Amino acid sequence: MINPETTARLDAKAQQILRANDKGGYTVPTKGLYPFQWNWDSALTALGIACFDADRAWQEIEKLLSAQWDNGMVPHIVFWQHEEGYFPGPGEWQSGRTPPTSGITQPPVAATIVRQLANFLPGDHSARVTPMLHALDRWHQWFADARDPDGRGVVAIMHPWESGRDNLPDWDAPLAHVDTSHVGAFLRRDTQLVNAAERPRNHDYDHYMALVQFGRNCQWHVKTIAEKCPFWVAEPGMNAILRRAERDLVALALQFNLPSIATRATHRLARLDHGFNQLWSDIAKGYTTLDLRNNKLEHRLSSGSWLSLYGGPENEERAEIHCSTLNRWRQQIRFALPSFDPGDPAFDDIRYWRGPVWAMINWMIATGLAEHGHPDMADQLADDTAALIDQSAFREYFSPVTGKGGGGKDFSWTAAMWLYWASPSARQKTETQ
Ligand code: GLC
Repeated sequence: MINPETTARLDAKAQQILRANDKGGYTVPTKGLYPFQWNWDSALTALGIACFDADRAWQEIEKLLSAQWDNGMVPHIVFWQHEEGYFPGPGEWQSGRTPPTSGITQPPVAATIVRQLANFLPGDHSARVTPMLHALDRWHQWFADARDPDGRGVVAIMHPWESGRDNLPDWDAPLAHVDTSHVGAFLRRDTQLVNAAERPRNHDYDHYMALVQFGRNCQWHVKTIAEKCPFWVAEPGMNAILRRAERDLVALALQFNLPSIATRATHRLARLDHGFNQLWSDIAKGYTTLDLRNNKLEHRLSSGSWLSLYGGPENEERAEIHCSTLNRWRQQIRFALPSFDPGDPAFDDIRYWRGPVWAMINWMIATGLAEHGHPDMADQLADDTAALIDQSAFREYFSPVTGKGGGGKDFSWTAAMWLYWASPSARQKTETQ
């Protein structure tokens, strides 16, 4: 149990981190390692900022959406200012945009965050929210057109970075089909800043760069990508987050009187809700990754598998299966929820997305658990997140085995999740509301 003094100290520290990472209208995930605006980091970070500065929280989303491409995509990185030595920087991506951006997207949590903010913050938000809903509708439509052109009801990623879960073991098999012979030499900067044992391996990076080169060579043309990209994978995290986002967009469009957006989002949502079942694995007893190029389902569970509960209503039988697997995982580790199955040989408790716990994924899964009638399990996730932050401060992620922090320090979304959700003071506020 975290005592009131520690709570007050960590509340103050979290706020201080968010203020220090503020570059004026947008917040960097952490200084040094990630010195620009990242898509889902910004959206999730806005929740934390909302706890002390409502106007600034809205700005975070506005700034992100202002970098939207003409085709509707909201990019995964926006390079608002020059930063010497960052790799891969604007020169590698060659997006042809001003400001320069990467050429891929990230999980579209933004609509969900806008809904949370609209409900959390007092006042009339229509003037601010209406333009955002138009932008979000265009982005979601881009997902349908560019990433699911055949209309099968699951959206694909063309790069592991699009999933936001960069080196998940799920990508190992599909990446093996990517030719890296033309990649050439490059200098990574991440491993100069962070212990290499905590980062993706060089072998993975060669594949990441081959896919960046592929996108750049076809000028990020979405039809060519859908037809020819050697990595084309549907995964439960991205698809669950998009389903949730469409659901929240429908609710917001109705609330703010934008019926045509509500109609379009409802149609897209129906297709996604129906298509999601293609990711179910009877062997793994959960939703897993589907390699669309090779028509192969990965029969392994990751934290993305539980995001199905956040994505939308799940039938009772499957929801129960999820909960009992989660309880089984709990017995193998000290802190939930690992990003990958702790019983699988590929599990690595400190290497990025191959095992570690991430605070914002815990928040999403807890949201889904609470909505499926498991507030106790949701509370346990908040307890674990708070205990990890108490033990290891606001690191990028944590080992589920030892609780040790990994990756970047003073990390924005970890601070935001503390302020908005895991801190005892945030939980007290929710209880008294
Ligand atoms: C890494 C993470 C990704 C995040 C980014 C910035 O690439 O895998 O999810 O958005 O860092 O924090």
